[in-house]
Amino acid sequence: MKFRTRAIHVGSEPDPATGAVVTPIHLATTFIQPGAGVWGQFDYSRSGSPTRTAVERTLADLEGAAGALAFSSGMAATHCASMLLKSGDHIVAGCDIYGGTYRLLHKICNRSGIAVTLAPAEDAAQIEAAMQPNTKMVWVESIGNPMMTIPDLPAIADIAHRRGALLGVDSTFAPPAILRPLELGADIVMHSATKYLGGHSDCLSGVLAARDIALHKELYFIQNATGGVLGALESFLLQRGIKTLELRMREQCQSALAIAQWLEQHPRVTRVLYPGLVSHTNHERAKKYMGNQFGAMISFEIDGDLEKTKIVCQSTKLFGLAVSLGAVESLIEQPASMSHASYDAQAKAKFGISDSLIRISVGLEDPADLIADLDQAICRSA
Ligand SMILES: Cc1ncc(COP(=O)(O)O)c(C=O)c1O
Repeated sequence: MKFRTRAIHVGSEPDPATGAVVTPIHLATTFIQPGAGVWGQFDYSRSGSPTRTAVERTLADLEGAAGALAFSSGMAATHCASMLLKSGDHIVAGCDIYGGTYRLLHKICNRSGIAVTLAPAEDAAQIEAAMQPNTKMVWVESIGNPMMTIPDLPAIADIAHRRGALLGVDSTFAPPAILRPLELGADIVMHSATKYLGGHSDCLSGVLAARDIALHKELYFIQNATGGVLGALESFLLQRGIKTLELRMREQCQSALAIAQWLEQHPRVTRVLYPGLVSHTNHERAKKYMGNQFGAMISFEIDGDLEKTKIVCQSTKLFGLAVSLGAVESLIEQPASMSHASYDAQAKAKFGISDSLIRISVGLEDPADLIADLDQAICRSA
């Protein structure tokens, strides 16, 4: 079956008890057992619950994974993956990563004796150069955040595997309707499902999907032991969101391309970072992996300082000034003071997160309205 058919039907089979066409929200935290010491399919909802299991089946199918796990947030999912490592191990991560992941790696993983080296994910040779004998994981984003870099995933998978390390890919910006990292050699794909998978800014959630059943079981063991599971209501909302994922992505990617092309022509815009633009350094690679859908996140710089950039971000009427992304509503933010505020000044300078950088998440509104909104906001800061 095709992607969007599976998104609607796999994991959403009619409820055998009632015939309900949508998965019921099972709030039960505990389940009657067939006998003392005999376990049924479910026993305690941290270990598994019917609504969560349903959406995990959908996610595993769409990612082409041996299994998927749903978490209470994207960070809970990333943290679970990091707990595969132990004291003395080393992670190589892309420079262009979410601020919260940067914080987790530098301020939490270090407490367990796990070291991290950042390297530009779009340059596989630099990832290779950063590998150490104790490197156990490489962690990159399939579309980097906020510079929109595209890593060569098969090359990085090869580098990691030759040295006995795992490749984990945060594919939050490129959900499975447009990119499936496991097919390109990754071992684990992670999502902040709060974003495109949920799609409506109402469901904080995270996902890990593993290519291999043994790895899936190990991640399940850690998830169950540490407890960052997704609740029943959020599991339901996530599954509902996924049913329209392909349609939303198609429209949002198309609008994003039109907006990026318009921004590129704007006299006040000095730089546009969008993988769908021919001017993007990784455009050819993006085409190879994503066909003609390049996501709906755009970063751009204006010819202004921190204050003028703030004026643009605060002057839009349709684009909401907020972190997060991937929903039907368009959002705008200033990475230096918002999503990447946890980067120190040196790191910001090194990774190109300038004061005049603006990041937008293109939603499902009419692109002509979005362009008009951006235009008046940019002009207001002149
Ligand atoms: C690329 C990326 N990864 C991970 C996360 C963390 O996800 P969550 O906020 O669901 O914990 C985010 C959140 O914005 C993100 O943008």
